Amino acid sequence: MPVRHYPTLLTYLEGNRRRTPEFDDVALELVEGALPPDLVGTLLRNGNGHFEQHGVLYDHLFDGDGMVARFRFDGQRVTYRNRYVRTDEFVAEEAADKMLYRSFGTNLPGGLRANFGKTQFKNTANTSLIEHGGHLLALWEGGLPHALDPESLATLGRFDYGGVLRNPFGWLDRRITPEMPFSAHPKVHPTTGVLHNFGTVAGSKHRLVLYEVSPAGAARVAHVLPLADAHFAHDFVLTASGHQIFFLTPVAFDVFRAFAGLTSPAASIKVDTGQPTQIVVVAPDGTVHRLHTAFGFAFHFVNGYQDADGTLVVDALLLGNYPDSAAIKAYLAGNLPDDQPQARFVRFRLDLVAGAVTRQSLGDCEGELPEIHPGHLGQPYRYTWTIGRPASSPLPLLDHLLKLDVHTGEVRHAHAPDTLCSEPVVVPRAGSTREDDGYLAYLRFDASTSTTDLLVADAADLRTLARLRLPHNIPLGFHGLWQKG
Ligand SMILES: [Fe+2]
Repeated sequence: MPVRHYPTLLTYLEGNRRRTPEFDDVALELVEGALPPDLVGTLLRNGNGHFEQHGVLYDHLFDGDGMVARFRFDGQRVTYRNRYVRTDEFVAEEAADKMLYRSFGTNLPGGLRANFGKTQFKNTANTSLIEHGGHLLALWEGGLPHALDPESLATLGRFDYGGVLRNPFGWLDRRITPEMPFSAHPKVHPTTGVLHNFGTVAGSKHRLVLYEVSPAGAARVAHVLPLADAHFAHDFVLTASGHQIFFLTPVAFDVFRAFAGLTSPAASIKVDTGQPTQIVVVAPDGTVHRLHTAFGFAFHFVNGYQDADGTLVVDALLLGNYPDSAAIKAYLAGNLPDDQPQARFVRFRLDLVAGAVTRQSLGDCEGELPEIHPGHLGQPYRYTWTIGRPASSPLPLLDHLLKLDVHTGEVRHAHAPDTLCSEPVVVPRAGSTREDDGYLAYLRFDASTSTTDLLVADAADLRTLARLRLPHNIPLGFHGLWQKG
């Protein structure tokens, strides 16, 4: 298929190859519009803080060290602080002044000789953040969270919930996976305040492990489900009714290849699109339901809830295939196939009684990094905001800001030429009653000036309200959160 080179993408990648300086609560320059006086609080974002490690370009988007960026809004100005998550691996690579660790998508330079038998992978702590139970944690789905000091953003260390995230299975399992994975997409139940999360644990037997953390921060392993394969699962759905829903796709790690060092874990992933996706539902009483649907892979779910008729609704950003590591490496060089498939908004309805699954399209557009009004998690909702590509855009880049009405399929979009933007975090307006009465806070890279800005937009119509210039480019990152002021 024809591959096109995208200068905007390449300028962004080149501008963020190396580590950014760290800034201490500097005031950002307002370059457009005005800050809403009622927008008071803190935007925290996490992401890959650079694309190379001591001169070696990573092969995968997910491999840069985590860098947390904090933007404090007081209604009149925004101050900015950023800190790399100082994992043990970050500190060791800094001291050695070279790449020391294999990571999710990148083997060490030097081929098999350099990678054979190296089973310790870098915990990049780069994917998301959660504040819960008295802890601010930087998350990475392959291993332990890292605790951060909420004021200074200094790294306090690996965090295992008092040993709960240490592998409790046999010695071989502990050898393979000493630290239990804790996904980067935990969900806090809207009424109980309990945090639910999961990890897919490779070992002598593969397992899906479900965790619960009380509002006071006490964690436990709530369920352990056997897995037929080392499935790759990034996100899940928690409904207010207490159902936890997992899509176990035939996208799985070849654990032997990855651990032996033959390939990176990402490049070991095998995909069989001819096989169905298994949907596992853990009901509030612990009953496990297993349903099946045709192949599809979702990095992210938009939301999910139990409908009035008892069926479970799951809205996913669904890919028809899994993006292989060669495609991601080409992306990091600024290249994309013209017909690069992106994720589409699909609604699944799960009838647990009949064991039936149906699906329908929610809109004629493609998207990723979906956000919703935080008060609607696990419950009926109407809008999602994402990065994306409307049907009218000829380029296979998710370079627009999208708002999708999941009731009507109406798509609203905003785009500035030569720009790329981050996940838009939704900040409801205080006292608002309309779901889209609020703000979006997101980052935008402008290739024409090679600068990175923080934007505040109106969540209803996507109109830019304020734009502030960062003192240095930072990658757009993955996931963030809003703390009320
Ligand atoms: Fe994610």
